[in-house]
Amino acid sequence: MLRAILLGAPGAGKGTQATRIVEKYNIPHISTGDIFRDNIKRQTELGMRAQEYMNRGELVPDDLTIEIATSRLLEDDCANGFLLDGFPRTVYQAEKLEEFLEANGQKLDKVINVDVDEDALIARLTGRRVCKNCGSTFHVINIPPKVDGICDNCGNNLIQRDDDSETTARNRLSVYGEQTMPLVDFYKGKGTLVEIDGEGDPEKVFLDIVDAIGD
Ligand code: AP5
Ligand code: MG
Ligand code: ZN
Repeated sequence: MLRAILLGAPGAGKGTQATRIVEKYNIPHISTGDIFRDNIKRQTELGMRAQEYMNRGELVPDDLTIEIATSRLLEDDCANGFLLDGFPRTVYQAEKLEEFLEANGQKLDKVINVDVDEDALIARLTGRRVCKNCGSTFHVINIPPKVDGICDNCGNNLIQRDDDSETTARNRLSVYGEQTMPLVDFYKGKGTLVEIDGEGDPEKVFLDIVDAIGD
């Protein structure tokens, strides 16, 4: 049983680490960004609304995001824990999450803040490639696929995310600094925060996270 949040700037490695964490602790991975992207792909009304914000590198409005995240948390597979990736992202979202958990008799075990230097973040975002079929994530330099442009996992084509251009990536980082960074102090104050150095080999970062969570 683990109820945790992965906090960290765009490109910090939340998705990369989430894949490993949910496998080890056998809990669902809930990424609001992935939920929005899935809705964009399916051209739902939610997707259309979210897309205009995401393409500019801005946050999707709180009320919409909170509704999406909390309804996901009410699904059966979250009864024994979950890993939130990219939610909450504003103090308001964090407060609403607290209210939601309290109303459901739950509480967070850990908030894992993955820290990476700004220049490294830009290089990670602009060099990221994702599989349009299975979602596996690579990096042209740091984590290259075996065959250029092809997913190791399923053989489909790798693409660049629409919001990974340098201009949009820079805007996402500045939005992060203004709206999401205050969450570090918010959770520090609650005593649930652990700080992880997100640089270096992904496997080493994962081991540090496991150390911080415990078995
Ligand atoms: P979201 O999809 O959550 O994007 P993000 O927070 O910007 O984070 P990323 O997914 O870009 O990075 P990551 O930390 O997952 O890094 P990754 O593991 O891929 O959100 C997208 C948008 O949706 C937002 O901008 C917003 O519009 C909207 N949204 C989502 N949630 C919202 C919310 N709660 N409220 C409002 N709006 C919301 O790694 C990045 C790259 O680095 C990869 O290429 C990877 O291979 C590489 N890499 C990973 N680890 C390492 C390592 N240790 N060493 C070297 N390279 C590494
Ligand atoms: Mg991600
Ligand atoms: Zn794939």
